[in-house]
Amino acid sequence: MKKRKIVVIGVGAVGSTTAYTLLLRQRMDELVLIDVNRDKAEGDALDMNHGMPYLGRVKVWAGDYEDCKDADIIIITAGAAQKSGETRIDLLKRNVAIFEDIVDHVLKYNDHGILLIASNPVDIMSYFTYKRSKWPANRVIGSGTLLDSARFRYLIGEHLNIDPRSVHAHIIGEHGDSELPVWSLANIAGSELILDEETKQRIFENTRDAAYQIIEKKGATYYAIALALDRICAAILGDEGAVLNVSTLLEDYYGISDVYLGVPCIVDRQGVREVMHIDLNEEEQQLLHRSADKLKELIQSLKH
Ligand code: NAI
Ligand code: 2OP
Repeated sequence: MKKRKIVVIGVGAVGSTTAYTLLLRQRMDELVLIDVNRDKAEGDALDMNHGMPYLGRVKVWAGDYEDCKDADIIIITAGAAQKSGETRIDLLKRNVAIFEDIVDHVLKYNDHGILLIASNPVDIMSYFTYKRSKWPANRVIGSGTLLDSARFRYLIGEHLNIDPRSVHAHIIGEHGDSELPVWSLANIAGSELILDEETKQRIFENTRDAAYQIIEKKGATYYAIALALDRICAAILGDEGAVLNVSTLLEDYYGISDVYLGVPCIVDRQGVREVMHIDLNEEEQQLLHRSADKLKELIQSLKH
């Protein structure tokens, strides 16, 4: 049987937590860690290997781009991260410069895998990777609003004292300040959520601003994003057909095209097998357009 192989590029807070989560969940047979800080990748690989007696055997090593050659999934979490007071968009220019180099290196060795992007601003970094790689869009995926949707489901679940896994609710659009809640489709067991406007607003704001709160308190977010990235890897490697709010290329989605945004997608071995067209009300459509316009303007600004 072919070995399942995942490469994580950038093993800072997000990358190393993601690698550890993938390891605990035994998602792959081989796990390669790449970072410009070679010592960090080597240290992480050693540290994880020392846990092997308590796990099944997974081969983990600090590698080079050559190791991408037979990888099923290449996760990119490298680059600058927000400091307290910064937005995700503030990272754009720095991370585009870093991605130019990383994507070109990956392409030298792999033309068949799936690129899974987490670095921020994740929708634009994913679009940039899609354009630069010239890979089909289904194989270039951003973590999108999967994390935001998890935060949203958690907060709704807490408010109603319901297991968040039983809360079906989506955050879509930019993974960032212009994202929007799809209240019109939020439900538990098919029943509409009856929440007053003030509660809805509070839950949404706490979802949207969660990263700012965490970064102010401890400098970075990494546990929940690691679980979200693991969830996407599970859907891909397990050929699940799971519906996940990842960032993907939109083509005539409520009239929006040529931009990556988080929307519900069916994810399986092909990556994004299908973008799901969900029924949005007028206000939600307008907010989605606003989110798309914001990102398109930023993409344009990169061309100057
Ligand atoms: P970090 O600073 O802890 O780690 C970044 C790592 O990238 C470092 O180890 C650094 O050496 C490495 N790196 C930098 N340039 C590189 C290059 N050219 N090649 C290989 N490695 C390189 O940052 P952290 O907290 O891990 O965040 C990483 C990214 O993930 C940030 O852009 C952050 O905003 C984003 N993020 C995205 C989330 C999402 O939901 N999509 C959630 C949390 C963070
Ligand atoms: C997050 O939402 C910072 O994008 C990162 O946790």
